[in-house]
Amino acid sequence: MALEVHALAGGLAAEIRGLRLWEPLAEADVKWLRHLYAEHGVLVFRRQSLSENEYADFCGLFGPLERTVRTDWASTVRPEIGLITNLKGGDGKALGGLGDGELKWHSDQSYMMNPATGAGLYAVEIANQGGRTHWANMVSAYAGLPDRLKQAVEGKNAVFRYQKRLNLYKGDDKKVPDENKNRTPDVIHPLVHTHPLSGKKALYLDPTTSIGVVGMPEAEGSRLLDELADFATRPEFVYTHEWQVGDTLLWSNGFTMHRRDPFPPSERRLMKRATIHLPATLHIVPQTIAPASVAA
Ligand code: OGA
Ligand code: MN
Repeated sequence: MALEVHALAGGLAAEIRGLRLWEPLAEADVKWLRHLYAEHGVLVFRRQSLSENEYADFCGLFGPLERTVRTDWASTVRPEIGLITNLKGGDGKALGGLGDGELKWHSDQSYMMNPATGAGLYAVEIANQGGRTHWANMVSAYAGLPDRLKQAVEGKNAVFRYQKRLNLYKGDDKKVPDENKNRTPDVIHPLVHTHPLSGKKALYLDPTTSIGVVGMPEAEGSRLLDELADFATRPEFVYTHEWQVGDTLLWSNGFTMHRRDPFPPSERRLMKRATIHLPATLHIVPQTIAPASVAA
């Protein structure tokens, strides 16, 4: 079957049909997929059946895979793969992370100096109710900003703090190791960045971690960040994914924010997650600015 691409949500996402990701892919197809990953914030592959090695090898075609700090969620077969699940093992301990609650609009690792470029989720078990995942198109959101907001973000940098996210989900995940907290001082990222291949500009936001804008009074900075997030997550910028077992999605953190609906604790949801880390010459990746170089 020939490779087919179906654009979803105005091109924010693209569903790619005709590939069996457990088989070795032709070099030309790999090149085409990398191109699609630069042009779309989310790639969707349905009806896949993958071992952890096959899944990790596929994600690795897009860039080096990263082992995240959550070693407690990691697979023992391929430690680059982590479990995102509400399931518990026979010992009653969580098998993975992120439980069954709502995950608010965010961009992964925005509190880090070098956030991951993107991630993959492969659906093994899905919730029959809830558990949908939504992505917002930060390229279209930037392009659609009213002039007043476009001017307001020009050259501005926001400050991101891990502790803000921890406080938000305190009830859900009490035991983040202290070493993780200590490793994450506040960081600064530009509010607007440019894709090195497509040349398109995108907003970079994360309401779960951003605490202000450099050079702006606290309240004014927070107001601007709230206004930007409200604008960027308008329905016209959002792709909603209704999960089916076997779905394999890849997204880009520089191009999108994402959010997950909660689901009932009685449902079973199991996703395998991979984290991709590319250099800024190849993809839109959030980059930090050293605080010393930022004019206050
Ligand atoms: C993540 C995430 C969403 C989901 O893994 O970073 O936000 O649908 N997951 O589980
Ligand atoms: Mn996430």
